Amino acid sequence: MLKGKKIAIIGSGTMGRALAGGLLRSGKVAARDLRGTARTKATAERLTADLGVACSADNAEACRAAGIVVLCVKPKDVQKVVEGLGAKGALAHVPLLISIAAGVSTAFIEGHVPPLTPVVRAMPNTPCFIGKGMTVVSKGTNATDEHTALAREIFSTMGRAIELEEKHMDTVTGLSASGPAFIYLIIEALADGGVMRGLPRSVANELAAQMTLGAAEMVLTTGRHPASLKDDVTTPAGCTIAGILALEDGRIRSVLARGVETAARVAGELGK
Ligand SMILES: NC(=O)c1ccc[n+]([C@@H]2O[C@H](COP(=O)([O-])OP(=O)(O)OC[C@H]3O[C@@H](n4cnc5c(N)ncnc54)[C@H](OP(=O)(O)O)[C@@H]3O)[C@@H](O)[C@H]2O)c1
Repeated sequence: MLKGKKIAIIGSGTMGRALAGGLLRSGKVAARDLRGTARTKATAERLTADLGVACSADNAEACRAAGIVVLCVKPKDVQKVVEGLGAKGALAHVPLLISIAAGVSTAFIEGHVPPLTPVVRAMPNTPCFIGKGMTVVSKGTNATDEHTALAREIFSTMGRAIELEEKHMDTVTGLSASGPAFIYLIIEALADGGVMRGLPRSVANELAAQMTLGAAEMVLTTGRHPASLKDDVTTPAGCTIAGILALEDGRIRSVLARGVETAARVAGELGK
């Protein structure tokens, strides 16, 4: 469905670049079919130099030729940007508008764009950079199944992509979008344990990261409950159960679950 579609990426920062890179690597979209925009000349020139994608500060011009517009600006900039597009008639041809802004609802965006504009909200994460992202999409009032399928196809070029009802989006933000930062912290802490026992830092980092990758793949490929996979590792009276009890003493489960809950709550406040 993506072949030949013109796509405008509004905001070519961390996520806009990841999106452009993922689309180009997938081979489904050619550089000539992509347009980026940025606030500053430096960011625009960087996107063009690195990925060969035309990029300017003119949002309206980029959108006029696009069948799909992906908003990758900060939540606080969404209203100004979409109102600017509407005022210049840049959405008059009714493109699909996809927003990745945390905490900004489809209803909010629909209130600032021409009526009938199909809006899809998407929540990707930074592992999209390496094709291992997790993205959730949800549809606004005027978006159809075809629109969300198109959005899933876009984000599938950068990892997994599923659709959920919009009511879950702040939770998704707290779990899979903020989540990489939580896991980096855990990897660092696990490596600290190895360093404390005498491993060189680089070795400890490699062990902790590859172990995390393997454990995550086990959950995804076997489809088994993590608790059942944990039981495979915990020999009675062994070292792993001893380590787990030490973690439980530190309330590891509730600390992590509350981290997600707190991030989700704050995500809901970002667009206000
Ligand atoms: N980072 C994450 O892990 C993550 C994950 C999921 C979703 N998100 C969402 O993704 C969005 C972008 O986040 P980010 O981390 O990529 O932010 P970022 O790196 O700051 O990128 C934002 C980009 O928007 C550009 N911009 C600002 N005002 C603009 C305007 N009026 N017209 C066109 N471009 C404009 C900026 O240009 P200049 O560079 O020239 O200033 C910048 O390149 C946010 O809404 C965030 O909630 C982020």
